[in-house]
Amino acid sequence: MGDTYKIELRDIVKDFSGVRALDHVTIKIRPGTVHTLVGENGAGKSTLMKILNGLYKPNSGSIFLDGKETVIKDPIDAREKGIAMIYQELNYIPDLSIEENIFMGRFPSGRIYAPGEFLPHNTAALSGICCRKRG
Ligand SMILES: Nc1ncnc2c1ncn2[C@@H]1O[C@H](COP(=O)(O)OP(=O)(O)O)[C@@H](O)[C@H]1O
Ligand SMILES: [Mg+2]
Repeated sequence: MGDTYKIELRDIVKDFSGVRALDHVTIKIRPGTVHTLVGENGAGKSTLMKILNGLYKPNSGSIFLDGKETVIKDPIDAREKGIAMIYQELNYIPDLSIEENIFMGRFPSGRIYAPGEFLPHNTAALSGICCRKRG
């Protein structure tokens, strides 16, 4: 399968004023795979994803995208690098599908799309895991 991972978070440490939220965490994601991050409340799941999304800076550790060490400056930079996050705590738009929420801000322009009509390129795999059905 080769050793190039789509995403690699390597040895990530994140402290919040004395509380160590992430203690040398490493995860490696191969292309075309779907993963679930599981852990009790306070385990650091959201913090890790916010680091991947550029919302938080790690105290130490590195991020590699397609095998290349990368700094993710902020969520806009993350989106330009193909990373999108829907926040648990903040509002998503319930009338839009999961796909549409994920692709928020990246809809093609030039015409008006009816609800449910927009299906960006390259979301066939996503469609397979999106479970919300329109009535
Ligand atoms: N913005 C923050 N400021 C201070 N502490 C935080 C902040 N975000 C998370 N933490 C702390 O970091 C730890 C991990 O939290 P979090 O990533 O939200 O866990 P999870 O998503 O797995 O429930 C917890 O101890 C939490 O209280
Ligand atoms: Mg969380």
